[in-house]
Formats: sequence, C-alpha cells, structure tokens
Amino acid sequence: MNNILHIDSSVRFAEGESSSHTSISKSLGQHFIQTWMKKNNLTKVVYRDLANNPPEFISMDWLAAAFTEKGGCSEWQKRVLEQSDLYYEEVKQADLILITAPMHNYGMPAVLKAWFDQVLRLNHTFTFDLKRGDFPIELMLFGKVLVLLTSTGEFGFQVGGVREEMNHLGPHVKLLGRYLGAESFYEIGSEFQEFKDVRHQHSIANARIQIESLVTDLLRP
Ligand SMILES: Cc1cc2nc3c(=O)[nH]c(=O)nc-3n(C[C@H](O)[C@H](O)[C@H](O)COP(=O)(O)O)c2cc1C
Repeated sequence: MNNILHIDSSVRFAEGESSSHTSISKSLGQHFIQTWMKKNNLTKVVYRDLANNPPEFISMDWLAAAFTEKGGCSEWQKRVLEQSDLYYEEVKQADLILITAPMHNYGMPAVLKAWFDQVLRLNHTFTFDLKRGDFPIELMLFGKVLVLLTSTGEFGFQVGGVREEMNHLGPHVKLLGRYLGAESFYEIGSEFQEFKDVRHQHSIANARIQIESLVTDLLRP
C-alpha cells in the first residue's frame, strides 16, 4: 500500500494547533499516520481537512453536469464538477482511505456527507443500468482498504452495545465505503468524551493500542 488518502472531518483543531479542546478523532488519525510512517515512510499521504476546507453541497447544476453523457459537458459544467473530479481522483489513486469522524447527531458530520456526495458519481464510482433489474447499480472501484476512526460523546455504539441502534455513523460510512472501492473495512472508536471520566481516558488509550495493532496487521507482507 503506497498511497493513503487521509480525510479529517472534525471542526475542532488537531493536537498542537490549539490548547483548548482538541479533536479526538483527528488525534487518532495523526496516531495512525505517525505509526504507519514509522514503519513505512515511503508511503505518499494526501491530506484533506474537510472542516477547514469544506466541500460544496451538490446543486441542480451539479446534477445536470454529473448526468451529462461523457464528453458532453460544456466548459461551464466542467467547472461545476472540478471539485468532484479532484476528490474522485484522490480516491482513485488511494490504496488506503483513512477517514476520521466525530459522531454528530448520531451520524457523520455534514462536511463528510458533502464529501461523499461529491465523490460518489455515475460512471466514476458506479454504473447504473435498468437492464440489471432490481439491482441496477454496479460498483467501479475495487481493492482498497477503508479505516474509520471515530470519537463519540456517549458510548455503547458497537455491535451488541446499548446504543447500537442509534449508530448511524459507522454503518453508513462502511456502506458508502464500498462505493469508494473499499473491500476491507476497519473501525476503531473512542467513546465517553462527554463523561470526561476515567472511562474516557481508557477508551482513548485502548483506541490507540488498536490503531497500532491494525497498522502492524495492514503492513504485514
Ligand atoms: C454538534 C455535535 C453533535 C454531537 N452529537 C453526538 C451524538 O449524537 N452522539 C454522541 O455520542 N456524541 C455526540 N457529540 C459529541 C462528539 O461526538 C464528541 O465530542 C467527539 O469527541 C467529537 O469528536 P472530535 O473530538 O474529533 O471533534 C456531538 C458533538 C457535537 C459538537
């Protein structure tokens, strides 16, 4: 795996950028990248901070351009799709996509959803053909690994947990990840942020250990 696309989506600063409440999900992402680079420093990392540099929302103009036959876009429509083209190329080049995300209102932050809306595109990430019957969509990207690192204020969102059914973050990113070409999906999360007690400290420490172990597994020849 030579190319990582690293996407952050918390509005909070990363560690080192501010002394006030810094982003836990961003710091887990930094830990993943630092651990990875210690073991394989030839990896190229493309980084996007979606909160600092938010994707545009898709619009009527965007839809019209995205559904125009290949080669049929006007110069103006091509400009409407520029951001989508750029994000798509970054995804296409990546072997591993690292997404870090806070849980916001039990789902992903709006900037991350906006990024998915820009990236997932007809004849780029999927094809659509009604001749296929009730399942007209076929995926176009394959062979990637998706790692999701999350932070939540409450707890128990994992399978079997007390809030499993309230979790619309991990399952949603996992599903959309298949459209990014992710054939393997790994999720590691820190919980309890709102309780600010020892459970939170343990949860962060545990997430960091799991990240180190995941990096070792992913880099195993
Ligand atoms: C707007 C907003 C919505 C939130 N919604 C939830 C939620 O639905 N469930 C939850 O467990 N925590 C929720 N939280 C808490 C965050 O998930 C928690 O603070 C997390 O650490 C944020 O990640 P970050 O530190 O990387 O920014 C919310 C926080 C904010 C600011």
